[in-house]
Amino acid sequence: MDRPARSFSQPLLDRLRRARRIAVLTGAGISAESGIATFRDPGGLWSRFRPEDLANVDAFLRKPDLVQRWYAERRRIAAEAEPNAGHRALVDLEAMTDDFTLITQNVDGLHRRAGSRNVLELHGNINRNYCIACRAPAPEGFADRLAEGAPADCPSCGGFIRPDVVWFGELLPADATEQAFAAARRADVVLSIGTSGVVFPAAQIPLTGRDHGAYAVEINIEPSAIAGYMDETLIGPAGTVLPELLSALREQAGEPVGE
Ligand code: OAD
Repeated sequence: MDRPARSFSQPLLDRLRRARRIAVLTGAGISAESGIATFRDPGGLWSRFRPEDLANVDAFLRKPDLVQRWYAERRRIAAEAEPNAGHRALVDLEAMTDDFTLITQNVDGLHRRAGSRNVLELHGNINRNYCIACRAPAPEGFADRLAEGAPADCPSCGGFIRPDVVWFGELLPADATEQAFAAARRADVVLSIGTSGVVFPAAQIPLTGRDHGAYAVEINIEPSAIAGYMDETLIGPAGTVLPELLSALREQAGEPVGE
């Protein structure tokens, strides 16, 4: 039996239809329907592992092989995962919008694999590695050799090679962060999707958008820590809500977003 279509508020549809500039922040929740574990949901990564053992530089210096093996496993899971309907809906929204910035905290690369173009990876990318001594990017295929048990040392200088992700206590990449906040400041609409809103500065991005006049909308299976600051929270899985929102937009206007 067909499920009745979700209805969206008129202000949301109007603001989105007129929006020329959209900034989107995504978190682990958007990849949950691709089979990638989130961090803080029940059964999430931080309920099974301690970040202090795996996601900070001291842990890495103590046990580089352990940390690399954990990232190799996560890399394997991400490589086997496929982008879902939520990722794809954001590709469609980008195609309809003049100025679209997709800011993600995810390191799984699924937004780009789905076809999103203007993507800012605030917390890095699990598929890249670099040497902590000479900072050279790890050679192509390094990750595969690592999974086969090859040494995790830099071929140029012998230094430790680490994943190019942001660990606790580390700064975010300056350029991506600057561009993300600039996109939020100029946005007509900001979307915060599948994030618990507890990790800063990422969680500040939708709030900055709202402070600068954007219509702020959260999409999550439950209200996040920043839900109270949003104009609307749409409760439901991103892989369902986003395609429904895109259909409602198209149906309502019969014309592209940003006309
Ligand atoms: P969290 O695990 O903290 O939060 C995931 C959010 O996704 C929760 O609010 C869930 O309710 C929501 N969620 C789960 N399934 C969903 C679905 N199908 N559709 C929509 N929402 C869903 O993940 P993040 O907020 O991304 O940082 O965590 C932020 C950062 O904390 C991560 O980037 C990582 C972690 O420590 C680093 O590794 C630097």
